[in-house]
This record gives sequence, C-alpha cells and structure tokens, in this order.
Amino acid sequence: MSIPTVSLNSGFDMPVVGYGTYPLKGHRATDAILAAIESGYRLIDTAASYGNEEAVGAAVRESPVPRSELFVTTKLRGSDQGRGSTRAGLAGSLTRLGLDYVDLYLIHWPLPRVGRFVESYAEMADLQREGLIRSLGVSNFLPEHIAAVVAETGIQPAVDQLQVSPSHARADLVTAVRTTGTVVQAWSPLERNTGVLDDPSVTAIAGRLGVTGAQVVLRWLVQRDITSVPHSSDPDRQRTNADLFGFELTAQDMAAIDALDTGVPVKQDPATWEEF
Ligand SMILES: NC(=O)c1ccc[n+]([C@@H]2O[C@H](COP(=O)([O-])OP(=O)(O)OC[C@H]3O[C@@H](n4cnc5c(N)ncnc54)[C@H](OP(=O)(O)O)[C@@H]3O)[C@@H](O)[C@H]2O)c1
Repeated sequence: MSIPTVSLNSGFDMPVVGYGTYPLKGHRATDAILAAIESGYRLIDTAASYGNEEAVGAAVRESPVPRSELFVTTKLRGSDQGRGSTRAGLAGSLTRLGLDYVDLYLIHWPLPRVGRFVESYAEMADLQREGLIRSLGVSNFLPEHIAAVVAETGIQPAVDQLQVSPSHARADLVTAVRTTGTVVQAWSPLERNTGVLDDPSVTAIAGRLGVTGAQVVLRWLVQRDITSVPHSSDPDRQRTNADLFGFELTAQDMAAIDALDTGVPVKQDPATWEEF
C-alpha cells in the first residue's frame, strides 16, 4: 500500500496519512510501529511527552525500510519551551530516538500564558539551519499564534497539527490556517472511537462502499485536503485506516459527514489549554 504525499513549504514531502503512536510505550509501541510500517505507513508521529521516543527509535532501526524513506515527527513539550531549553528539548528527543535529525518538529501547545512559543520557534529555526530539523511546525496553534511566529522569523510553519474530526470540523480554523500556506494535520481524527464511527450517517456510507466507518471518516479528511495521524494498536485496523485511496465519497456523502459537526468548542482550547 502506497500512501500519497503532500509538498511542504520546506521543500520536503510528507505522507498525507501517518501513524499516531500515543499512548503506546515500550515493546508494544515498537511492535505496533513495525506493523504499521509493514502496512505502508511512512510517517510516525510521536512527542517528547508520550514517553515512547525510544520505542519509536527502536522501530526505525529494526524496520527494513531505510531511515531516509521514513518521516519522523516529534514535539517540543511545554516544559522545554524557551531560548536554550528548546535546543536541549530537541537534543533529548534526538538522543531518545537515536536519530541525527527529525523530519518535522512541532511546538506541542502554544501555552500563550507562558509566552515562550515565539522564542522557541525562533530557536527551532536555528536548529533547522543546523540540519537537525527538516521542517518546522506547530501544533494546536490558532492563526494569531502562527502570525506571531511568522512575524518574528519570517518562516511559515510547514504543518499545524490540530484536533479535527467530524464532530469538531473547525472549518473556519482549517481554512484560516491553510490560506497562510500551512498544511493542516488532524489529531484524534477518529475521536478515539467514542461514537462517530458508529454514527448511522457513517455506517450507511461505509456499508454502501464496503469499507469501515474509520475509512469513511479518514477519507472525508483526505477530500478536505486535511492530512491525519490516526492511531490503532491493531495491525488490521492500521492497514484499513491507511487504505483510503481506492474509493471516493460523493458530494452527498461529504455533506452527510459535514452535518455531524457539533459546533461545540474543543475541550482542549489552545487559547487556554496547558500541559507541560
Ligand atoms: N498534537 C496533539 O496535541 C495531539 C493530541 C492527541 C493525539 N495526537 C496524535 O494523534 C494521534 C491520533 O489521535 P488519538 O490516538 O488521540 O485518537 P484517534 O486516532 O482518533 O483514535 C484512536 C482510537 O481509535 C481506535 N481505532 C483506530 N482505528 C479504528 C478502527 N478502524 N475502528 C475502530 N476503532 C479504531 C483505536 O483503538 P485500537 O488501538 O484498539 O484500534 C484507539 O482507541 C495520536 O496517537 C498522537 O500521535 C496529537
């Protein structure tokens, strides 16, 4: 299975579907990532705060797929934000991963009250120039946070990883981020299987097309030009979750999934959410 890529403003290509590794740790994480790579995933999404970077690094080394064909994303945790500590944060991640560069480095949360995301991003730009980061990105950034880092560095983030799914379509936010040239990547695209996959609108489309509810939801993202990092610990679900390019949703199907948007604000509001 070959997963298509999208061109980033950094000049690098990124798979449109990646493998989310949270909350796996240790051998279970390594085994799941190896199965995901075997299925065709090339993007592995981790974070310093997930406590599984060593397990990701082990999978990268054990996999028969060369490092150069894999795309590893990790994230700067809140406690490492700031001048000097951003460099140390990346160094820690690279050591745990056993890698000499990451493909994409994201600021995990803006933490506007802390007020260090702009200086952190500026330091990431230095680290990119040193070859330790291929593409600079952010996560959970609202347009005003992106505008602030661009004003300081002149570098548009390649990616903004945001909570996007049918119940939280966040269409205005996605449009605002995308019009600046930043690729949107959805986290928790399946809503952690808390109901959307069994919604009658989703199951009706899935039944007609002979695919799973998860494939319908993830294909809806593909057709909205939103990349994603779904997680599954199960090799069969991993495989079907990435098998999105042999079927298409009609305009009516797209409208049916669009109609699931609750309009309810996300609980982890980037303007106020804090985790370190
Ligand atoms: N940037 C951020 O702030 C942030 C925040 C949260 C997450 N993330 C990233 O985004 C990734 C994905 O988000 P997530 O893990 O929160 O949620 P998710 O991908 O929406 O859902 C994962 C859950 O859905 C189940 N699932 C997966 N495929 C399924 C299928 N085909 N049918 C039925 N159930 C299925 C999985 O169970 P099984 O394992 O049993 O299949 C798991 O419980 C994370 O792993 C992480 O890398 C980033």
